[in-house]
Amino acid sequence: MEGARPSRTALRVALRRASHQLFDNPVLFVDPIAVRILGATYGEELRRTPRREDRPFSVAMRAHLVARSLYAEENLRRAIESGALQYVLLGAGLDTFAYRNPYAQLSVFEIDHPATQLWKRELLAASSIPVPENLTYVPVDFERQSLSERLVAAGFQRDRPAFFAWLGVVPYLTLTAFRGTVAFIASMPAGSGVVFDYGQPRAALPPREQLAHDSLASRVRLAGEPFQLFFTPEEAAAELSAFRDLEDLGAEEINRRYFADRRDPLKMQGEGGRILSAWV
Ligand SMILES: C[S@@+](CC[C@H](N)C(=O)[O-])C[C@H]1O[C@@H](n2cnc3c(N)ncnc32)[C@H](O)[C@@H]1O
Repeated sequence: MEGARPSRTALRVALRRASHQLFDNPVLFVDPIAVRILGATYGEELRRTPRREDRPFSVAMRAHLVARSLYAEENLRRAIESGALQYVLLGAGLDTFAYRNPYAQLSVFEIDHPATQLWKRELLAASSIPVPENLTYVPVDFERQSLSERLVAAGFQRDRPAFFAWLGVVPYLTLTAFRGTVAFIASMPAGSGVVFDYGQPRAALPPREQLAHDSLASRVRLAGEPFQLFFTPEEAAAELSAFRDLEDLGAEEINRRYFADRRDPLKMQGEGGRILSAWV
């Protein structure tokens, strides 16, 4: 992605998370900061276009975002229960966990592109959302800088377990940057873990889903953040061979787990998007 300006895809997904708070009933992922963080400018945009949120693409995308946040925070709880007291959000965007963190002992590290991080901090200040003491911002470009060096310099303890959430980031990376981060997480102490979502390659999708894939790929390209990296589940498993307890969920399993009892259409569609967790 272009380094000098904040991530537009981070704004798009934050708008969709806020839409979930305002337009879905019941709200599955309760997030009292999701709307507030958008402030006056983006909040106005959110309220102006509620009907667009009913389009099938928007509903399915929102379900994916809701599911990945739920899944990440459920796995974070599991990591904390087995002793991890560090949470690293890789490519944090406008993620709000740190500002509603219920775990007093948990140190949170938000990693992001410097321009995106600066913009987030301006939004937080403009909406008077306090920055907690147990949160550390670490500006890093995964393509150009060493994540481990930057994290350790910011007070991260490499010899203590940590949980990593890498939501909505992997498709934008090169394979080299992806592998560098995976190797770093794999080198962490036992009890560490990671959650990330990824997309399947176009050729692995049925023809009607290839059109949806093309449409999303063209939007993010226009936003200056082109997709670069896709995996089949088999390829993802091979990339994560150093980990244990791999759980890789497709739409069907995710819908069964999170959206089964709903009367509204909120659920994931197609086979393109997957969410996984893996443990050291
Ligand atoms: C689609 S947004 C997702 C943001 C957030 N995780 C969420 O779910 O709302 C992609 C994020 O990846 C970050 N990102 C993309 N490429 C990056 C890179 N090379 N280095 C650091 N961050 C990067 C962007 O700044 C942005 O915050």
